[in-house]
Amino acid sequence: MRSCILFCLSSLLLHDYFLVVDAAKILVYCPSISKSHVLLCSKYADLLHNAAHDTVLFIPSYSSLLNDYDGARHAKVWRLHNVTEAFDKELDSLANVMDDSHIGFIDRLTFDVDFWMESCEDLVKQIHRLQHLKDYNFDLAIYNDIDPCSPAVVRWLNINKTVLLSSEAIMDKISWDLGLPTLPSYVPSVEENPNHDRMSFIERMSNVYKHFQSIVVHYLQERRVLHLFRKYISLDYPPITEIIRNVSLVLVNSDEIFDLSRPYSQKFVYVGMIGSEKNNDVLPELSIYNAIQNLPDYHFVIKTTPDDNSTAQLFANCKNVDFVNWVPQSAILKHKNLKLFVSHGGMNSVLETMYYGVPMVIMPVFTDQFRNGKNVERRGVGKVILRHTVVTETFYKVIKDVLNDETYEKSAKRLSNMMKTRPFTPEERVSKWINFVLDHDTFDNFHLESNNLSFIEHNQLDVFCVFIVLPLITYYVFKRILSNSYSK
Ligand SMILES: *[C@@H]1O[C@H](CO)[C@@H](O)[C@H](O)[C@H]1NC(C)=O
Ligand SMILES: *[C@@H]1O[C@H](CO)[C@@H](O)[C@H](O)[C@H]1NC(C)=O
Ligand SMILES: *[C@@H]1O[C@H](CO)[C@@H](O)[C@H](O)[C@H]1NC(C)=O
Ligand SMILES: *[C@@H]1O[C@H](CO)[C@@H](O)[C@H](O)[C@H]1NC(C)=O
Ligand SMILES: *[C@@H]1O[C@H](CO)[C@@H](O)[C@H](O)[C@H]1NC(C)=O
Repeated sequence: MRSCILFCLSSLLLHDYFLVVDAAKILVYCPSISKSHVLLCSKYADLLHNAAHDTVLFIPSYSSLLNDYDGARHAKVWRLHNVTEAFDKELDSLANVMDDSHIGFIDRLTFDVDFWMESCEDLVKQIHRLQHLKDYNFDLAIYNDIDPCSPAVVRWLNINKTVLLSSEAIMDKISWDLGLPTLPSYVPSVEENPNHDRMSFIERMSNVYKHFQSIVVHYLQERRVLHLFRKYISLDYPPITEIIRNVSLVLVNSDEIFDLSRPYSQKFVYVGMIGSEKNNDVLPELSIYNAIQNLPDYHFVIKTTPDDNSTAQLFANCKNVDFVNWVPQSAILKHKNLKLFVSHGGMNSVLETMYYGVPMVIMPVFTDQFRNGKNVERRGVGKVILRHTVVTETFYKVIKDVLNDETYEKSAKRLSNMMKTRPFTPEERVSKWINFVLDHDTFDNFHLESNNLSFIEHNQLDVFCVFIVLPLITYYVFKRILSNSYSK
């Protein structure tokens, strides 16, 4: 019933736009790199379709597991099959890296930079297979920031307006490309970084290192992509950084009420919560088993994958557990008896849990999940457990702490209330901002001038130099005059 009311409201709201805006042709470009990413793209495609635009969700097949998968209910879905076999192969090798408790700089240089290149090369070699997209004359393209190949491919399609979808909090390289001030003294880097905005000296050192590491790794990726496009397409293909800098808008899949406070500019619009639940992997078994046995007063619902028989066997003699392959996550989160939600801390899950005011325990596995977990702690709505510190007792203890200390629930309810009453819904923001972009020719006035300044100008070194040197000269001259006049 509730969802019906929501639906009716949104279609009423969208009615305005029918009057104001001509239907535009919008491309949502979305390589199938993971289920949650494809799902997120689908939400955008559906939303824009429902806002009366001719929307195409285009999925070049990267992961063979997702050949038939899309979450779109309304928008058109076009696929490009048999693009590459490299992605599946690379994903296997990445799984090995992720078994380590820590992914360091060298790992990232060797894996992250290479990771996308073979699939990108396979795609560039067959780029003529995208000719029908070029011929469709799209007015606007939306692409996300994960696959470094995407900006270059979308550029090849010659679409006048582009919008970047940031799949997590604003990445360091994106803020670098768009000239956004990101001071690592209080803005935590996004990837593999268990920090929030209050850091000790050592944590700040680590954060500075991660910040520049992230920029270097993504810069090297972009250079390799550019090399491919210059090799196969044209020698004067523009730098990827410049392509990204020219987007009209960045839609950030986070929520400003949850996310850490940080500077951002007019080009950034926070629209988190359009996506939904992330795929959960298997949690470290024994510690959870122990915690569940020790909390007989609570009932546990555990989501596993359909091919996972071993987890159910492990819990065979626990009476307080149910196993499900699929949960209506938001229905469960809404339920008044739900006391706690345990997850890996994917942005979509965290935001949904925040929205319903449920305390969390986060066990991060990769990229932004560490930061999301720390952010949950910073907002006082739960705790994070790092994988390499998790032993049987800690998991039980952390769960017990969060369940017994009612401040977590209080903070969760307070933030939930803020999220529910904020001025505009993410859906409104997406459709209104996209319409705004479609309605206007140029967004040059949204560009931060920082990108057009030299290092010296940007950091005001010339000005500081004058401020320091001028008084010194004045002091020196006066001193000379005074001493001369005394000596006479
Ligand atoms: C992909 O290529 C294989 C052979 O290389 C072919 O059997 C298969 O039908 C192709 N799939 C699609 C969807 O075109
Ligand atoms: C893109 O912009 C150019 C110049 O502003 C214009 O001539 C062209 O028609 C536009 N293309 C589309 C598909 O709107
Ligand atoms: C970016 O925008 C500027 C100014 O609008 C334009 O001169 C430049 O060619 C654009 N670059 C790319 C790669 O689109
Ligand atoms: C799990 O069990 C089902 C039936 O109980 C069986 O069909 C399936 O093959 C099993 N999966 C694995 C990975 O063992
Ligand atoms: C950079 O600034 C100069 C003036 O200081 C201006 O002439 C130039 O157009 C700017 N370039 C861009 C890309 O904005």
